[in-house]
Amino acid sequence: MEEGPIIRIEDIDKIYGEGVNALRVLKSVSLEIGAGEIVSIMGPSGAGKSTLLNLIGCLDGFNSGRLSILGRDISSCSVEDLAGFRNRHIGFVFQMHNLLPEFTALENVMMPLLIRRCSKKEAKKMAAAAIEQFNLGDRMHHRPSELSGGECQRIAVARAIVGEPDIILADEPTGNLDRENSRLLTDIIFSMGREKRITIVVVTHDREIAGRTERTITLVDGNIVNV
Ligand SMILES: Nc1ncnc2c1ncn2[C@@H]1O[C@H](COP(=O)(O)OP(=O)(O)OP(=O)(O)O)[C@@H](O)[C@H]1O
Ligand SMILES: [Mg+2]
Repeated sequence: MEEGPIIRIEDIDKIYGEGVNALRVLKSVSLEIGAGEIVSIMGPSGAGKSTLLNLIGCLDGFNSGRLSILGRDISSCSVEDLAGFRNRHIGFVFQMHNLLPEFTALENVMMPLLIRRCSKKEAKKMAAAAIEQFNLGDRMHHRPSELSGGECQRIAVARAIVGEPDIILADEPTGNLDRENSRLLTDIIFSMGREKRITIVVVTHDREIAGRTERTITLVDGNIVNV
């Protein structure tokens, strides 16, 4: 296991647009997250939370500063290297669920396993087990358009955790859920994190969820106001 922080962000600036339209969304942000930590990110809409999570997930670049994940300097990686690195180490739950519409729930959850060349039989078994954890066993052959928003969200979480990544990044994963399902979903993510020492970073507007994490980072207007 890696020693030191699993996620290290140093003095990162992120600017969208150019010239008069330039918008500095992250302002010299520095942050370290240890292996196995469960952390929440809160802050007003537009503060830069999704932007920050996308950077950590190696889904988007930044303008200056340094980012290392699992001791690896991300800014020096090629696009192909990053894709493989993400598939092996990071599970992402997006603010909008991002399931592939032409595939069933089961096929969506199998996808990260197939990408890493797991056999189809094994992938199916693991994906079905992940879906059953969320009480959606009877829905796994439905496509996203045939599922409710909350069901899609739970399938998206199953997809993020199925490969047992080192890091799970979740952007408002309970936005579409009622209290009971919101609790079920966070219970599963957090207990899996604790049991398998997975690092979890969750963006949330829900104080109850933030209260169940070990540390809350508050982002306001592109600055971290407490760590
Ligand atoms: N691709 C983009 N191009 C230009 N501006 C962008 C882009 N993506 C986000 N922004 C702007 O950057 C700022 C931060 O956006 P971000 O999505 O990180 O906010 P957030 O904290 O996640 O908000 P929310 O709670 O509403 O999801 C916003 O002002 C947004 O309009
Ligand atoms: Mg957001």
